[in-house]
Amino acid sequence: MKLQDARALITGGSEGIGLGIARAMKARGAQVAIMGRSKEKLSKAAEDLGVLALQGDVSREADVKRVVASVVESFGGIDILVNNAGYGYFAPLTDLDTAEFEKLFATNVTGAMLVAREVAPHFIAQERGHLINISSTSGLGGGRNSTAYSGSKFALRGMTECWRAELRPHNVRVTLVNPSEVQTPFFSKLGHEQVLSEKKLRPSEIADAIVGALEIDDRGFIPEFSVFATNPF
Ligand SMILES: NC(=O)c1ccc[n+]([C@@H]2O[C@H](COP(=O)([O-])OP(=O)(O)OC[C@H]3O[C@@H](n4cnc5c(N)ncnc54)[C@H](OP(=O)(O)O)[C@@H]3O)[C@@H](O)[C@H]2O)c1
Repeated sequence: MKLQDARALITGGSEGIGLGIARAMKARGAQVAIMGRSKEKLSKAAEDLGVLALQGDVSREADVKRVVASVVESFGGIDILVNNAGYGYFAPLTDLDTAEFEKLFATNVTGAMLVAREVAPHFIAQERGHLINISSTSGLGGGRNSTAYSGSKFALRGMTECWRAELRPHNVRVTLVNPSEVQTPFFSKLGHEQVLSEKKLRPSEIADAIVGALEIDDRGFIPEFSVFATNPF
């Protein structure tokens, strides 16, 4: 797919990995809309990049419907969805809080489904589109304290396979991306102090890999890839 003039929605595009993807796609000439809950963060990011800001929460069905309709109206259609909005909640099994667990699934799993569900009919109608789900290496293997987060990313991986099976006959490409640790506000939101390292991944490495996957000719696609830091130690 050529990114020049391609029409894209990136959820969670106001910071971190989503912001990096928005920047890289805009630089390639795409028409980009970013979605997030905080209006302030979203407006600042949109102003900096020159992209469209659409405030909304992916876990709220009405917000998702409104945002997808706005993208289609503003750009005259949609070619790319990056389902990136997500966050972490980590606790041992014996301490898991039900409300926190369900809240995380509402964003990381139900939210991704809602946005994909609203965008897919447009892709099917035009027999073309690229749906990218941002999972994690935590969706490839479980670990201590990661029941909620890994569980949500395993679910996203499973849904990705279902959507690929359904959408591929309509020439729609569906890709799962598994970044390992990327230096973003994800960790400070968990209360961790983050010491920036020149060896660890930045959002730009994930964005560059995604641009590469988007730009291959429409006759082919990459179903899934992971991105690791070469030597983070
Ligand atoms: N950082 C990592 O090491 C890493 C590694 C692997 C995978 N990932 C995945 O990559 C994705 C992005 O993570 P990140 O590190 O860039 O995190 P981040 O810096 O915290 O950014 C998260 C973005 O998602 C938005 N968001 C969160 N909940 C939302 C909701 N319910 N509705 C709409 N927008 C929402 C946030 O804006 P608002 O808060 O204003 O809504 C923000 O724009 C996540 O799915 C994460 O699981 C991250």
